[in-house]
Amino acid sequence: MSRVFNFSAGPSTLPESVLEICAKEMLDCHGTGQSVMEMSHRSNAYKPIIEGVEAKVRELMHVPDNYKVLFLQGGASTQFAMIPLNLNKTGKAAYVDTGVWSKKAIEEARRFLDTVDVVASSRDRGCCYIPEIREIKGDYDYVHITLNNTIYGTKWSYIPDTGDIPLVADISSCVLSEPLDVTKFGLLYAGAQKNLAPAGVTLVIIREDLIREELPKTVPTMLRYDTHSKNGSMFNTPPCYSIYVMGLVLDWVKENGGAEGMLKRNTEKAELLYNYLDNSDYYHATVDKGSRSLMNIPFLTKETDPDKATAINKKFVAEAAAAGLVNLAGHRLVGGMRASIYNAMSIDGVKALIAFMDKFAKENA
Ligand SMILES: Cc1ncc(COP(=O)(O)O)c(C=O)c1O
Repeated sequence: MSRVFNFSAGPSTLPESVLEICAKEMLDCHGTGQSVMEMSHRSNAYKPIIEGVEAKVRELMHVPDNYKVLFLQGGASTQFAMIPLNLNKTGKAAYVDTGVWSKKAIEEARRFLDTVDVVASSRDRGCCYIPEIREIKGDYDYVHITLNNTIYGTKWSYIPDTGDIPLVADISSCVLSEPLDVTKFGLLYAGAQKNLAPAGVTLVIIREDLIREELPKTVPTMLRYDTHSKNGSMFNTPPCYSIYVMGLVLDWVKENGGAEGMLKRNTEKAELLYNYLDNSDYYHATVDKGSRSLMNIPFLTKETDPDKATAINKKFVAEAAAAGLVNLAGHRLVGGMRASIYNAMSIDGVKALIAFMDKFAKENA
């Protein structure tokens, strides 16, 4: 067996031990004589699986009892619509624009709300930092932030104070990468395909008072949080297999020290790579210190000629792939290179990347 180091931004590398359990249980899960893929979601075989996953999310993220944990479909992108559809009372919300995913959330909210105020933005410098806005006030139904910006590699190092206004955060690319105080938020959501599971399930953690029944009748049944909350995420067939794998990933997180253990592991990996970049004559990190993500690390060479830079980036990505280090191209909208080093990426993967980068720099300087 030959496995590569996969630096994809999502879907992403999963812990090898989890994949091994999946393989072992593929034909017969827990003596049921069935694969989880084949189980009725309402069967006695599946029920303990989904209930167990919810319990593990609650335990690892310290989710208080007055929050619901939901397993939904449609990706994080569907949340861009569900949030305004469900939280709208006065037609007014505030968003912070820190990149592509924030912007998509803003554009979607504008379909449903009269006023979407962008109260801060990092667009003036190509989204390479998180704006300083420690307090957000106003007559808003909610405030939305993207806690980790997958494409630009920025992360909020603080949680803005929004007083009584519910704070909503997209945590798709940083969920369980470090401890997070759920009580500071009204709603958290994450597409699972980075730190939690294969694609197909979206984790939503929502404070109960934000789940409303008195919504306009034009809000589709499947896009109402109360539909899923009342039915234990089983209004319709849930993404059963992805939820099962999430449970295995959460077991792995727990065995490795929970959110605190992930922070230690992720800090060690990220520091190694940022230190290398900051001390390199050939490469540089693109994000301001103080706003840097632990999960997604974009970088460029110091080549300033745009055509030569494009050619060298292409060569880097191709030669890295040939060396078993795959998916290192930056997002198609920003170019350059990006190493996504989610929870499951090992320190050995990061060391192998740095060794390759060093060799490439020497050969191409
Ligand atoms: C921060 C963030 N939000 C939202 C999305 C969109 O997620 P999905 O593909 O699950 O809709 C992504 C995908 O990469 C992301 O990184």
